[in-house]
Amino acid sequence: MSERERWASRIGLILAMAGNAIGLGNFLRFPRQAALNGGGAFMIPYFAALLLLGIPLMWVEWSIGRYGGRHGHGTAPGMFARMWRHPMAKYLGALGIAIPLCFVMYYTYIEGWTFAYACFSAVKQYWGIDTFTEMSRFLGEFQGKVDVSAGAHYFNGLGAALVFYLIALGINVWVLWFGVAKGIERLAKVAMPLLFLFATILVVRVIFLGTPDPAHPENTVAAGFGYLWNPDFTRLGSPSVWLAAAGQIFFTLSIGNASIHVYASYVRDDDDIALTGLTTSATNEFAEVILGGSIAIPVAVAFFGLAQTQQIAEAGSFDLGFAAMPLIFQKMGVLGPIYGLMWFGLLFFAGITSSVALAQPMVSFFQDEFQWPRKRAVALTGLAMASGGLPCVFFLKHGFLDEMDFWAGTFLLVVFAVIEVIIFAWVFGMEKGWAEINRGADIRLPRLVAFVIKYITPVYLIVLLGAWFWLDALPVLRLQGKPVADAPFLWAARLMILGWIATFMILTGVIWRRRHRKEGLL
Ligand code: ALA
Repeated sequence: MSERERWASRIGLILAMAGNAIGLGNFLRFPRQAALNGGGAFMIPYFAALLLLGIPLMWVEWSIGRYGGRHGHGTAPGMFARMWRHPMAKYLGALGIAIPLCFVMYYTYIEGWTFAYACFSAVKQYWGIDTFTEMSRFLGEFQGKVDVSAGAHYFNGLGAALVFYLIALGINVWVLWFGVAKGIERLAKVAMPLLFLFATILVVRVIFLGTPDPAHPENTVAAGFGYLWNPDFTRLGSPSVWLAAAGQIFFTLSIGNASIHVYASYVRDDDDIALTGLTTSATNEFAEVILGGSIAIPVAVAFFGLAQTQQIAEAGSFDLGFAAMPLIFQKMGVLGPIYGLMWFGLLFFAGITSSVALAQPMVSFFQDEFQWPRKRAVALTGLAMASGGLPCVFFLKHGFLDEMDFWAGTFLLVVFAVIEVIIFAWVFGMEKGWAEINRGADIRLPRLVAFVIKYITPVYLIVLLGAWFWLDALPVLRLQGKPVADAPFLWAARLMILGWIATFMILTGVIWRRRHRKEGLL
């Protein structure tokens, strides 16, 4: 077997892992979730989920990944099969290739929007559009959500969205083409410092905005921070707030999507993972709570006031970032296009450093298990990404992307986490697991962490799933509240995800029969 790839440096690994975690979730999803779910009070379930799910699972995933890498596996089928000597283990592991693939399909499309809007900002494409309604129309026409049969104002069809999607997909494939150290690590070394630079400049600019509209002295940045952080404790009684907080932790830390495992599989056997895993989580939280929380919402309140910002946040996941922000850049003087470029540029960097991580499991699966050359594995992965990305482009208005986001970006992450934590703590065994986490560690973790991983994290996850089934399962499964005309598209999204899960299970079975069974791996 040829030597597996390795990260070239520790700082490169940390940047790549931080890049994996820090994504669109930090700057677009977090502020909206916090604003909609009780503001400051949201931080209570949020930090509970961070401490009891996020960080423990981060260590579990790093350990599983490094352990698998030691045995030549970059993906979950091989990892689970090594930890649980049961024929079913590898099939459960197949979820760890299908989930990130389905995740990255729609994620890359959103990344394409950020690239498009960076270009639109640079050339002042949307300059002159001065109401929220019109800016939303610009976005809606770009995404193909607005009916333009009576005449388009800005985009006559999906051509632009498609082109930018293909550019984003092409850049992903190009990075993956060069492999872990020469592609992903190099990207992270350039993109992450730029991301932090742009975010810091924007935060400083926001803080010094003061009262942009003298006619409305009540609309200040401080009021914006107040809106985001003043706690509404009455919301804590609602299970949906706790589900939203846990969902945000999963999404933002890239937990449960099997991308951490694959990155950790390229770590050397006795390299520290305890401190590095913690550093990744801390860096992500800084980028999310401090930077992500200090841009979109405060600036929107300063310019639009509280009531309208609330409406914008409630309107949809992307209105704040793609409709409100472009209006604001136009009011920021000659530097407006530069601020716009920085905002969408940072979103693009955040996105791409996450999407290459989500695509890598499929690449590694074919490389490690089928012993394909990397470029062939990357080419196939690119095609697979397009097979689900293109329907997102064409059927966005029918809810295709949102459906993918719910299953592959929310629900299945929790399912996968339940499986992995049980295999790790209960089947492989917490004693061996604890030794794995601490192998080569640069810090001493308190023994309490082992207790949390073994008991608290699984129970927390199972309660979350139980609450979801109790509250939401039937209406969600029955598409309650969704337009009837969209049902075929939403079912198509579900069947596609199921189809990919089945495909990777079958491929896993095939390669086990062909290779691993002979070596005694069940
Ligand atoms: N962790 C990535 C994000 O936050 C997926 O967007």
